[in-house]
Amino acid sequence: MNVTIFGSGYVGLVTGTCLAEMGNDVVCVDVDQRKIEMLERGEIPIYEPGLESMVHENTAAGRLRFTTDIADGVAHGLFQFIAVGTPPDEDGSADLQYVLAVARSIGEHMEDYKVIIDKSTVPVGTADRVREAVSETLTRRGAEVEFDVVSNPEFLKEGAAIDDFMKPDRVIVGTDNPRTTELLRALYAPFNRNHDRLIAMDIRSAELTKYAANAMLATKISFMNELSNLADRLGADIEAVRNGIGSDPRIGYSFIYPGAGYGGSCFPKDVKALERTARDVGYEAELLSAVEAVNDRQKSVLFNKLHAHFGGALAGKTIALWGLAFKPNTDDMREAPARVLMESLWQAGARVRAFDPEAMEETHRIYGDRDDLELVEGPEAALEGADALVVITEWHPFRSPDFALVKEHLKQPVVFDGRNIYDPDYMAGQGFTYYAIGRPPVGDAVTDRRAG
Ligand SMILES: NC(=O)c1ccc[n+]([C@@H]2O[C@H](COP(=O)([O-])OP(=O)(O)OC[C@H]3O[C@@H](n4cnc5c(N)ncnc54)[C@H](O)[C@@H]3O)[C@@H](O)[C@H]2O)c1
Repeated sequence: MNVTIFGSGYVGLVTGTCLAEMGNDVVCVDVDQRKIEMLERGEIPIYEPGLESMVHENTAAGRLRFTTDIADGVAHGLFQFIAVGTPPDEDGSADLQYVLAVARSIGEHMEDYKVIIDKSTVPVGTADRVREAVSETLTRRGAEVEFDVVSNPEFLKEGAAIDDFMKPDRVIVGTDNPRTTELLRALYAPFNRNHDRLIAMDIRSAELTKYAANAMLATKISFMNELSNLADRLGADIEAVRNGIGSDPRIGYSFIYPGAGYGGSCFPKDVKALERTARDVGYEAELLSAVEAVNDRQKSVLFNKLHAHFGGALAGKTIALWGLAFKPNTDDMREAPARVLMESLWQAGARVRAFDPEAMEETHRIYGDRDDLELVEGPEAALEGADALVVITEWHPFRSPDFALVKEHLKQPVVFDGRNIYDPDYMAGQGFTYYAIGRPPVGDAVTDRRAG
């Protein structure tokens, strides 16, 4: 089938590539000329495991191409996916300018029936606005062309995006027309071989389902972070608590890890946007406000622990940072807890020596050259002469380091573990002072239970 994808970011590029992989003929359109030129040269603008080789194979097979030519894109696909960004506006609501710009572009150029699919995360009611934008543009042109609008939110996770798209837990399809449900069923059939994962519903429910999923996941994280701060103050171990509650099948083990706060391009903005949607219909979503407030506070927990350990004297200290991306297997730095930590350290006069397997370029793009940030070649280089090590992103290579080497390189054997990936007893045995999230510290730790 002929498919056009508007937006070649994390979602658009993965969607286009996976649909091409199944034999469809896909054109990816983006307004970012630099990005399209990179893609045409076979360079992938983002880091996503498995994506590069799949893009190469499908472009070579002639099933996947990239363009900035909007008219070409509109003419190509029966399916017109909108996968552009929906960043937060000043009031927290989702900024729909890019989505509506694509809708108008489609209206401007379409000559035959199209299925227009909202894949971006968009507030309830957006499909109506997309329909209006297309209709108005068609009317202005004096054209009468049939089209349908579908909500098909995306649930992929950065870092596992290909796997998530190829083997989805569910494919949500919101339509007001059985004909389009069947067209989408045919498009997604190759991803449903094992069992039917397509869940059809009305458009508004589909739009709300995406926000509900992200808000639920963010709530789980903030709940555990809230409990970890309590554990810190009560002298309990949140990891024991996590094991204890996860064993209840009604709770389960997934997504109940305490940490340094959630980041990324989705949870923070989607929780805010849902809160805003609620306010717009006269409802105060108090739980969502609390989820966000707890998360904002959590991003300062590591800094507070560092501050307490060094008795407030962080000026002139060098802190080694392992991890910068908001989670492993991505180079995405949007709303990353590492940013809050680095900015607080700089404010306090400390220097940062950081390593991340993928996000160094992005970090440099954001902060540029500065005296108090050194981006180094590897994890050991970050430790050289540092006063403490902070682990903020749980990349695999950080999980079982050579602790003798870590101790040798650090000025003082102090480790702050923002992801609870090390064993406190082992760290004590190795002679470290070790702080984690919601766990009693070991070694020469400063016990300031309010610092959590
Ligand atoms: N990143 C994720 O993990 C994820 C997961 C699920 C859903 N989503 C949602 O998917 C949407 C896209 O997210 P993303 O992370 O892929 O964004 P992104 O910022 O990585 O990519 C968006 C792309 O759209 C392009 N664009 C903007 N206006 C355009 C236009 N008029 N025509 C063509 N291209 C245009 C931009 O140049 C950019 O390349 C958002 O709504 C997001 O909330 C993201």
